[in-house]
Amino acid sequence: MKYMTGNEIREKFLKFFQDRGHLMLPSASLIPQDDPTLLIIGAGMAPFKPFFTGKMKPPATRITTCQKCVRTGDIENVGRTARHHTYFEMLGNFSFGDYFKKEVIPWSWEFLTKELGLPSDKLYITIHTEDDEAFDIWHNKVGIPAEKIFRKGKKDNFWGPVSDVGSCGPCSEIHYDLGEDMKCSDDCSVATCECDRWVEIWNLVFTELFKDKEGNYLPLEKKNVDTGMGLERIAMVVQGKTSTFETDLLTPILNKVCEMTGKKYKQDNKTDISLRIITDHARCVSFMISDGIVPGNEGRNYVLRMIMRRALRHGKMLGLELPFLYNIVDTVVDNYKEAYPELDENRQKIKDVIKKEEEKFKQTLDRGQKLLDDLLSDGSKEISGENAFKLYDTYGFPLELTVEIAQEKGISVDEEGFKKCMKEQKERAKAAAQKIILT
Ligand code: ALA
Repeated sequence: MKYMTGNEIREKFLKFFQDRGHLMLPSASLIPQDDPTLLIIGAGMAPFKPFFTGKMKPPATRITTCQKCVRTGDIENVGRTARHHTYFEMLGNFSFGDYFKKEVIPWSWEFLTKELGLPSDKLYITIHTEDDEAFDIWHNKVGIPAEKIFRKGKKDNFWGPVSDVGSCGPCSEIHYDLGEDMKCSDDCSVATCECDRWVEIWNLVFTELFKDKEGNYLPLEKKNVDTGMGLERIAMVVQGKTSTFETDLLTPILNKVCEMTGKKYKQDNKTDISLRIITDHARCVSFMISDGIVPGNEGRNYVLRMIMRRALRHGKMLGLELPFLYNIVDTVVDNYKEAYPELDENRQKIKDVIKKEEEKFKQTLDRGQKLLDDLLSDGSKEISGENAFKLYDTYGFPLELTVEIAQEKGISVDEEGFKKCMKEQKERAKAAAQKIILT
């Protein structure tokens, strides 16, 4: 296995599929275009939704991209594991009614073992329980021993749709074994474990179904392919690391955060979590702002604000004074400007937006922190929905942040109560707006 930078892997992937007749498109913006059902692009296929269903004709039946993605569904894992991120890049190749399993499965194997030189004995395959066709191709065409192909149910080996309705299908995943010394127990196996030993590197989705409003799965007119490989994860494997934060995609940012905080990485577990959170979030918010998202209280604007404020709190925990996050932007931009020139063009805008939000948050944070400290030390085991809402509404504490801070002290938050307060406030606002229109 030869060392390759993240940029080299990205280029190699796109070239491999261009050589196999794919049109390469640049990453779409993180802001979905003409898609009110999506807040933010979170998968390589998301900008192509109408091509899968046949609603629109694609510019080519074979496309390859490296797509900017933001996912916050499991944000509490970010920083706490070796490989979760709010922002990541997804390498993908897509077939819209063109090739299917018998082409894409051997290609994926060829790319990993020949182009990247991954040792085949480290690779394991999962397929959908009923997918005998995929089994046959992996086993008979590619030559994978049957005991290295695991059949799994819908929870693991079925992907999509991205919203309530849309294209979806069974999938086959390729996993990399980081080695025996990473095992979590004596029964540690790719068939049952999601521990740090097994890295899911590539997901091949055989998009042949459409889930409708009633929950029925109907066959699509044409069979499609949608694959996704996380660049950070494959870089981690190719660069011989056990954490994505130690790849060339993130190390310069992590080093910058260490320099700013005066902390050394890998000295203290709790400090490392904060260092990783700031690193990940600084990168994420830079890309989001570059694509035109600004902090706010609704939709994707709120997502940005929440991520930013989470980074700010962890910076404070490490002794940084606000504003500080905007000082990391140069490092992010310099590390990514070759692949994403728009970051360089937007450098100043990104800094200005972050700095302004930091200054705003600084004013309210200290007061909010005091209320939160009082709530956490009054002896109760739960923060009420009203108080969580007050922290949100008056002091700008995103709910996720309150939950995380409370969790650290073993205290829960009444999230249902919070949502109720939020709903009531929205109704009040709506009623007020109507009153203004009527009077
Ligand atoms: N769309 C698939 C995923 O996100 C490839 O995993």
